[in-house]
Amino acid sequence: MTAVLAQGLRKTYGEKAALDGIELDVRRGTVCGLLGPNGAGKTTAVRILTTLLRPSGGRAEVGGFDVTTQPRQVRRTIGLVGQHAAVDELLTGRQNLELFGRLYHLSAAEARRRAAELLEQFGLEHKGPAKEYSGGMRRRLDLAAGLILAPPVLFLDEPTTGLDPRSRAEIWRAVRELVSGGTTVLLTTQYLEEADQLADRISVIDSGRVVAEGTPDELKAKLGGDRLDVVVHDPELLATAAELIGRVASGPAEVDRDTRHVSAPVSERVQALTEVLTALAAAGIEAEDVAVRRPTLDEVFLDLTDAGGGSR
Ligand SMILES: Nc1ncnc2c1ncn2[C@@H]1O[C@H](COP(=O)(O)OP(=O)(O)OP(=O)(O)O)[C@@H](O)[C@H]1O
Ligand SMILES: [Mg+2]
Repeated sequence: MTAVLAQGLRKTYGEKAALDGIELDVRRGTVCGLLGPNGAGKTTAVRILTTLLRPSGGRAEVGGFDVTTQPRQVRRTIGLVGQHAAVDELLTGRQNLELFGRLYHLSAAEARRRAAELLEQFGLEHKGPAKEYSGGMRRRLDLAAGLILAPPVLFLDEPTTGLDPRSRAEIWRAVRELVSGGTTVLLTTQYLEEADQLADRISVIDSGRVVAEGTPDELKAKLGGDRLDVVVHDPELLATAAELIGRVASGPAEVDRDTRHVSAPVSERVQALTEVLTALAAAGIEAEDVAVRRPTLDEVFLDLTDAGGGSR
């Protein structure tokens, strides 16, 4: 069963296409990660799917309802935690949640009961107004407000941008709990790691288009997985080192002469590291530093646009 569907979704502002034909198919009870840099079109997509913005072309369905022709049914199906906090600074967490409950047409008693439940679940029993909250607490309060009605489909626009690792982990835990209860989640993020941690499938978007789609493992395999970095002591030996590393790597080795770096994608990180160290030692090449690391988001996009023959 499909929970969120987008077909050829477009949004233009004058000449500029913020969304240039987005395709999405999110199965019920799963997490879809929309991964992309600033300006990729993530918020635009979320705003269209949550009926806050009309598409210029294409179509979309949420929970089986069309976002343009059945917006009221869609709104009854979803929760939204926007990119910017929607809580009232002067109210306490409890007052904010009760207010949201009333906005969602709960009775006063129901709103009080639901607020109390969420305050406990998200560790938000602070007595003072929301302006005294830390960034992590505010984000948790936003999330709680989006969950007043325990929606079947929840949209989270960059839920952890700007949070420290601990607050981020708390949000991740809350999202996983919701999903285990059957909620479908579409979340946007700029962090590869976040998509990796939470999403069943990831759509990488750039300049309003989906440039890659798949499970985290599929995408990593497509992108060549981890990268091996070696700093070679003697610049004269860079070319030889690059050739040796290239034999172990899953793609071409890149050389940066200024920093004496050789970098290459590898698929089996431990094996590749061992083989490269052995080969370098056998050739008498001294390495100042060796590291295996995940690709950065920059490298992901560079790889994707290279592979697609992109014009950027
Ligand atoms: N109301 C608008 N008028 C004109 N251009 C807009 C408008 N809203 C968005 N855009 C443009 O559309 C593109 C996509 O914006 P969007 O906010 O969807 O990006 P995003 O992926 O959410 O970025 P971020 O990670 O910075 O939140 C950007 O180039 C943006 O400048
Ligand atoms: Mg955004």
